[in-house]
Amino acid sequence: MLRPDDTDLILVVDFGAQYAQLIARRVREANVYSEIVPRDTPVAEMLARRPRGIIFSGGPSSVHVEGAPRIDPSIYDSGVPILGICYGCQLIAQQLGGEVRRTGTGEYGRTELKVVDSSVLFANLPVEQEVWMSHGDSIVLAPAGFKTTASSSAPVAALEDSERAIYGVQFHPEVVHTARGMEILKAFLYDVCGARPTWTRVSIIESAVEAIQGQVGDGAVICGLSGGVDSAVAAALVHKAVGDQLTCVFVDTGLLRAGEAEQVEETFLRQFHVDLVHVKAADRFLSVLAGVTDPERKRKAIGETFIRVFEESARDLGPKGSRDVARFLVQGTLYPDVIESGTRDAAKIKSHHNVGGLPEDMDFDLVEPLRLLFKDEVRAVGEELGLPEDIVWRQPFPGPGLAVRIVGEVTAERVEVLQRADAVVTEEVKRAGLYRELWQSFAVLPAVRSVGVMGDERTYAYPIVIRAVTSDDAMTADWARLPYDLLERISSRLINEVPGVNRVAYDITSKPPGTIEWE
Ligand code: XMP
Repeated sequence: MLRPDDTDLILVVDFGAQYAQLIARRVREANVYSEIVPRDTPVAEMLARRPRGIIFSGGPSSVHVEGAPRIDPSIYDSGVPILGICYGCQLIAQQLGGEVRRTGTGEYGRTELKVVDSSVLFANLPVEQEVWMSHGDSIVLAPAGFKTTASSSAPVAALEDSERAIYGVQFHPEVVHTARGMEILKAFLYDVCGARPTWTRVSIIESAVEAIQGQVGDGAVICGLSGGVDSAVAAALVHKAVGDQLTCVFVDTGLLRAGEAEQVEETFLRQFHVDLVHVKAADRFLSVLAGVTDPERKRKAIGETFIRVFEESARDLGPKGSRDVARFLVQGTLYPDVIESGTRDAAKIKSHHNVGGLPEDMDFDLVEPLRLLFKDEVRAVGEELGLPEDIVWRQPFPGPGLAVRIVGEVTAERVEVLQRADAVVTEEVKRAGLYRELWQSFAVLPAVRSVGVMGDERTYAYPIVIRAVTSDDAMTADWARLPYDLLERISSRLINEVPGVNRVAYDITSKPPGTIEWE
């Protein structure tokens, strides 16, 4: 996907990956296109992109530690407006001759900010407001030519040299705890940089469509659908761009959530009229899983089978009516994956590979229409393209599917128990209005049975474990404090409606030390 030539660009220099991503997302929420660049990108290279403005992100370091990240100071003479945030602000102060000192009194959390001089950044804001701070060092002296525009318990909380269009804020305008932060960012983008708010869901779709058409010409394209939002949006975009040249392959492993396969068929075949190959391979997956209880062996067996099935179905596919072999394969790679593989400071987060890993001997050119998009943009584009809410807002789901939530052997009977139980959990969580708030919420089927009593009968059946977590990125997660009455409803429905279940437990383990999935 290409950025359209007439879209204004803001570069976010990465001094700490998580901070940079949030800033870049906020800039895009202000409808201005942004990209993240590693801090050691040569300044000439940055300027060659013709950015309307450059933002230095926060970072975990102190400007005083050895090896603290810096930037080529020639950037300050480029004439391109600069905004430094937190570490970025301290760096500006230090590199241009101000003083940053370890005062021993850092500021963390909600802090009172006082505007002390006029600034375009604070033009429509009250003199006093709460902002979010997180820093140990403090700027005690602004560089020559700069004026201090706000202070907090530290003397300099915002500074600027408006002649050179260099601005710095010690607080984090990008976090929600800084209530007026978005206005401050917008003032920088619109009033200082003169950036135009043209990056919208419609313009994203237009530029993606144009890029896809340019890349694939009249070639045949295939796309593996998983039921998740990324592959669905990628497929819908490619279909909008090249219509019948696209064939989607959906491998139903039999390990999906209840109703998922039907929904994919309903959406892509009947609503979008996409050429869809629906491979019903549940039996094949169950047969390779027979007798397998070790989690890693399970994952491996599913991964290998998936690749084989996909390969068999995809090898000879071409556009409708022809047997031309497809040259292009769609992948739902998102911008955070691109940043993580490209930036030096980014934590290496991705350890899981989707089961839709590719057969190595299949020689495809990749089409990656979501390559520049954040997840929230992917969802917005999905909504704009008319994908159903259930797909657009679906919680993440592991490639190996329900198999990693069935401890012990995966059998048709146990898959069915879990599908039914999972459907109850999802339904109740949605009814309670919590589905979007939770990172994931689902049922797990352990490999034990316990004694119970229903009516006058003694039962000996499976428990269901409910797992619900909040998280930002799945790297860490907290168990969700679900309301008791919701847990109560889920428990009673599971026991009444799902044969084979006589007990319900709630998993109150965070990650770490637990993982989100059970296997
Ligand atoms: P864990 O269980 O490691 O999971 O805390 C972190 C996130 O990754 C998802 N997950 C997977 N996703 N293929 C995937 O595409 C996999 O094999 C896989 N295993 C776990 C999990 O659902 C959670 O969101």
